[in-house]
Amino acid sequence: MARLLIVDDEKNICHSLAIFFASLGHQTQTADSAEQALKLLAQFSFDVVLTDYRMAETDGLELLRRIKARQADTLVVLMTAYASVEGAVAAMKAGAHDYVTKPFSLEQIRHIVERAVQLAGLRAENQALRQAIDDIPMLGSQSEPMMRLLETARQAAGSEATILLTGESGTGKNVLARQIHRWSRRAEAPFIVVNCTTLSEQLLESELFGHVRGAFTGAVKDKPGRLEVAGGGTVFLDEIADLPGALQTKFLRFLQEQSFERVGGSNTIRVDARIIAASNRELEAEVLAGRFREDLFYRLNVIMLRMPPLRERREDIVDLAHWLVKALGVRNRRPGLGLSEEACRALLRYHWPGNVRELRNALERAAVLSRSDLITPEDLPDSVFREPAASHPHPGTSATLEDVEREHIIHVLADSATLEEAAAKLGINVTTLWRKRRRYGLD
Ligand SMILES: Nc1ncnc2c1ncn2[C@@H]1O[C@H](COP(=O)(O)OP(=O)(O)OP(=O)(O)O)[C@@H](O)[C@H]1O
Ligand SMILES: [Mg+2]
Repeated sequence: MARLLIVDDEKNICHSLAIFFASLGHQTQTADSAEQALKLLAQFSFDVVLTDYRMAETDGLELLRRIKARQADTLVVLMTAYASVEGAVAAMKAGAHDYVTKPFSLEQIRHIVERAVQLAGLRAENQALRQAIDDIPMLGSQSEPMMRLLETARQAAGSEATILLTGESGTGKNVLARQIHRWSRRAEAPFIVVNCTTLSEQLLESELFGHVRGAFTGAVKDKPGRLEVAGGGTVFLDEIADLPGALQTKFLRFLQEQSFERVGGSNTIRVDARIIAASNRELEAEVLAGRFREDLFYRLNVIMLRMPPLRERREDIVDLAHWLVKALGVRNRRPGLGLSEEACRALLRYHWPGNVRELRNALERAAVLSRSDLITPEDLPDSVFREPAASHPHPGTSATLEDVEREHIIHVLADSATLEEAAAKLGINVTTLWRKRRRYGLD
């Protein structure tokens, strides 16, 4: 069933067509002028508009142009008299889906409309799929530690406990945080992400807790913070290790009392928000180094979930790759895209220091570059075929995660012409790379 709008200034034609399409199970509305049609289009959404070409005031071509300017997705079919075939050509150029010349049989018009309806359905489906890649992660796993982690995450989602997600960059902490929110009873309420790295201390404080007018230069009116905006929902504090000292104290108090004051304000605000925090640094190490409050660490660490790096869940590489290729294929308008056996084998041999993000980036590149419908090893980036260099400590040696990351960054930086290129290879954004470079003393 589709929603059709039929436009013709001859009322009897309008009504006959409306009755005919209604009898085929479609939802129909009619308009006897372009103006009336535009009014209806502003109120309701239609899959297909069937309009007469020649109408008293605004003609069908002009109506088509206005529809395309506002709702490019609406399919428009024009009905033209034989004499205006040139007009029909102009119509196709202006973005009409199809046209039919008068007089036409009901069978003819039915055929044309059904085809448009089919296309509208396909489009909606594609759009949903395209959205799915970011929204629906692959949650199945064949790997023992990952299965256990997912099980715990699902259980924890049902509670109100604060959750701390740790694990290397690109392992899927953001993805899991969002999923925990979806599993929780707060699913219908907002899920709000606050990245503790990207903002200055002052901005971050106001972002989290809000401010009152006049609190600082530029604070021209009262503004609620993310904790308030999320009321009843979940706040995801990403990169919590970067939360500045003074804010750690204020945030600790929020965790203990569920209350705080806006910047510059004196009213105490109570908020019911569930906290999920994530860090790709070992927070214990940050505590030992005196950079992170120990009491805050314990408050956050009620339930800790450590995302395993991809090399520790090799059983999932092939399934993840197929999942990603399917989703990325749709996103890049190549819905038939698949992954060859040899490409799978190459993916399995590689150690994936950038984890799922690196896998996704490699496949996205392949989805764009691949010349056939099957991704082959040639479509994969060179890094996938490189042996981990001797300077790459293997997991299991005494090297810390930070050593591994540092070495990998050195390696990639040496191999890249620009910081942007290195960041793309690493699967992190340039700001993060810049920060890491400084942290590791590489700049
Ligand atoms: N289970 C999954 N299914 C599909 N895609 C995934 C999955 N896990 C991760 N990804 C993809 O991998 C990429 C990295 O995931 P995410 O941003 O959650 O990592 P992260 O652990 O938060 O990394 P960082 O520490 O750098 O912030 C994203 O593009 C995400 O779509
Ligand atoms: Mg993240």
